[in-house]
Amino acid sequence: MTTEARFSHRHLLGIEGLERGEIVAILDAAESFFDVSRRSVRKVPTLRGKTVINLFYEPSTRTRTSFELAGKRLSADVINISVSTSSAVKGETLLDTVKNLEAMWPDVIVLRHQASGAPHHIAARTKAAVVNAGDGMHEHPTQALLDAFTMRRAKGRLEGLTVAICGDVLHSRVARSNALLLRQMGATVRFAAPRTLLPAAAESLGAEVYDRIEPALEGADVVMMLRVQRERLSGTFLPTTREYSRTFGLNAARLALAKPDAIVMHPGPMNRGVEIDPAVADGARSVILDQVEAGVAVRMAVLWMLATEAQGEPTAG
Ligand code: CP
Repeated sequence: MTTEARFSHRHLLGIEGLERGEIVAILDAAESFFDVSRRSVRKVPTLRGKTVINLFYEPSTRTRTSFELAGKRLSADVINISVSTSSAVKGETLLDTVKNLEAMWPDVIVLRHQASGAPHHIAARTKAAVVNAGDGMHEHPTQALLDAFTMRRAKGRLEGLTVAICGDVLHSRVARSNALLLRQMGATVRFAAPRTLLPAAAESLGAEVYDRIEPALEGADVVMMLRVQRERLSGTFLPTTREYSRTFGLNAARLALAKPDAIVMHPGPMNRGVEIDPAVADGARSVILDQVEAGVAVRMAVLWMLATEAQGEPTAG
């Protein structure tokens, strides 16, 4: 596979600002790394001598684990810092924490933080490359990249696809990063949410906006369900989860409105029986676990690009 590695940024802070060729370069590099995880020896020497620090201020299963595996499969030294066992609980600021970590010479800091813009704040003040692993309600760029990788594998292209992104769009950094990426790649994006869960600026992301799920699903190539983010819901966004499930949950009858070969995605973690029926989540058209597998390859590509300022073909052999 030919990889035109034209990624010219020192950090990956968001999809916003990435050019189409840079997105393609990351996806192509991820293709080159994809098979490493399926080998009997799941390791290549590409990042030997490099150090990656995962610094997570919010809970994570998929993102944290896949960044750790990505770094280890590239032979980097990987350190995981969970905030609950760090000096953040004694009141140390994010910037002080990063400055102290920087003194130990990491090449890449992967940051998840509840504050939108936290990775940008840090990136301007550290020598390490910074990857945004999810910042507040703002962006989750590697999730959008792994989603695009999964769609491209399943459908052979991104251009011309119709992607329905349904659920709690208001609180979703995944929806925002996906909309930015998919529009950049020539796909049509539809947002479907109850009015209370649609951001005021949804149309400025280039998405068609629906306050019912059914019209958004009609003829879609991809159905992406979003988690109801109970931890970010305050006030009266939703009547009850039962009512939400009845009006917005993806079940077999609703999925039948999409194209017969439509795929079903979810970034996880799922609220089974709320935004998605378990029979659909586990059904033949679900690629939810393919997304998780793609996460390792995409994060390998991102770490490789940032830790080596890579040019040319990745060495996955
Ligand atoms: N999709 C996602 O970001 O999952 P985690 O919160 O488990 O990392």
